[in-house]
Amino acid sequence: MKKVPFCQVVCDGREEQYVIDVLRSGWLTTAGKTLEFEQRFTQAVGANFACAVNSCTAALHLALEALGVRPGDRVFVPTMTFTATAEVVRYLGADPVFLDVEYGTSLLTPAIVEQALRQHPEVKVLIPVHFGGQAAEMTRSDDAGILDLCRQAGVRVVEDAAHAFPARRDGRMVGSFGEITCFSFYANKTITTGEGGMLVTDDEELYRRVKIMRLHGIDRDVWNRFTAAKPSWEYDVVAPGFKYNLPDLAAAIGLAQLERAEALRRERERCARFYLRELASVPGLDLPVSRVPEADHAWHLFPVVLNKHAPVSRNEFITLLAEHGVGTSVHYKPLHRMTYYRERYQLRAEDFPNAERIWQGCVSLPVYPTLGDEDLAYVCDTIKQALDVSRQTNWRRAA
Ligand SMILES: Cc1ncc(COP(=O)(O)O)c(C=O)c1O
Repeated sequence: MKKVPFCQVVCDGREEQYVIDVLRSGWLTTAGKTLEFEQRFTQAVGANFACAVNSCTAALHLALEALGVRPGDRVFVPTMTFTATAEVVRYLGADPVFLDVEYGTSLLTPAIVEQALRQHPEVKVLIPVHFGGQAAEMTRSDDAGILDLCRQAGVRVVEDAAHAFPARRDGRMVGSFGEITCFSFYANKTITTGEGGMLVTDDEELYRRVKIMRLHGIDRDVWNRFTAAKPSWEYDVVAPGFKYNLPDLAAAIGLAQLERAEALRRERERCARFYLRELASVPGLDLPVSRVPEADHAWHLFPVVLNKHAPVSRNEFITLLAEHGVGTSVHYKPLHRMTYYRERYQLRAEDFPNAERIWQGCVSLPVYPTLGDEDLAYVCDTIKQALDVSRQTNWRRAA
């Protein structure tokens, strides 16, 4: 039987060479390679400052800390996201306010944000997620994009771009619109360092705070102490910071991935176009809605939704595909359904109708650069058979 895994990491650039350079340099932790990775990343997204960290979760935490989020503060978070988006709010003793998302894109829209701002004037920060690699509508020519609305309401914005590098909207890279943007380089992401993340901003003051808090609240990092003329032992602790720095070993992988980022994105786009074409008229299946040109989408995910006409449930569908060697995943079980958030904030499913509709049927299909057209055709055929009522019983027995 053919096997199509859900995810496959591709390191076919200069990763090995750069890692060997670091191993031979004798300096494995945060130093020159990380600095270079930060510099190249600022150029890639068009931001002034970048701070490399060991996860996007760390970046989101540092971003909220730098904005001064404190116990008792409230922060908007979409319910359709990974728990990291909301858990960082709790790290600081603040409380998430969960928002429903748009059906089709799983994004926050200006309309959703506008209503939320009206209903919750006490909220200080919004964390929009560029779900699946598609940028939300952050800016608009009539000043009614998500960033515009938040600016008018005095609400700060931290973009969760864990899925969205490289991605564009209206000709601008994600990372160049807003105040602070956080990216993930976790193993399954569009570019990876194994574990890792990056925070970018144009605001020098925020950057300085993030940089200090990234490494124990120390005013000079070890590399700076090692290379500066001032004695290397001398440093001060100006705040109780964290241990979130990215080592050079990981940055070396990141540099190689960054060189190939657009090529890797294009291959993901090829997978998405294949699915959009081949699955366009399969009954029972809703395809993801793209509000940006295909070339502006990072295509981290290709999430489909089984609608009420599907002859099988989502879980049956996943099992059927697995029985035929096709790996899938689910993005996401929404946070209002997770025990901790549901119980702590007494959340009710009926307050999130779109996320509920997505959750009941959502399945993410394999998307990665090495997924060939033959594999894609196999996935599409398997899906068509799984959703074909007339053939399904016999087909399943044959598997
Ligand atoms: C939307 C979203 N935000 C944040 C994160 C956290 O990223 P990391 O694993 O780099 O901490 C993830 C991870 O998958 C994610 O999907």
